[in-house]
Amino acid sequence: MVSIPEPDRNAQLAYGAYLSGPAGHCFECHSPLTPKGPDLASNLGAGGFEFHGSWGVRISSNITLTGLADRSDDEIKAMITSGRRPDGSRMLPPMAYAYYTNIKHEDLDAIVAYLRTLPAK
Ligand code: HEC
Repeated sequence: MVSIPEPDRNAQLAYGAYLSGPAGHCFECHSPLTPKGPDLASNLGAGGFEFHGSWGVRISSNITLTGLADRSDDEIKAMITSGRRPDGSRMLPPMAYAYYTNIKHEDLDAIVAYLRTLPAK
């Protein structure tokens, strides 16, 4: 197992990058899958990874500026922790909201601040 040093919690963007990447695995699902694995190098957060399960087929959402521009910070945080969109619709299980329910407020702040810095894809 590779051990990744935890960045300084006060460096919010670096900490958000750490939480969404090596700690929270957001981008392994939220980046398109290539034969070599998720395309983290040029399509980080662009979504498009297709999941097949007993619940059907679900495609991961774009979580760059393109996908999140119209969402407020609170809406994004609620989507991550509850699996519900602002219109009340529910996400299916591959989005790992059940594991994110108890993320601390300051950690969610860091994740959202970091997502807002991703280039539109
Ligand atoms: C195991 C794969 C997986 C992981 C890990 C994952 N997601 Fe998701 N996520 C999905 C899928 C699939 C959807 C679409 C769900 C649906 O439409 O039912 C989704 C949906 C979302 C949405 C809703 C977007 C919208 O506008 O509807 C947000 C926001 C989101 N994820 C953020 C995150 C963040 C932030 C993390 C890391 C903390 C994360 N996700 C980790 C698979 C994943």
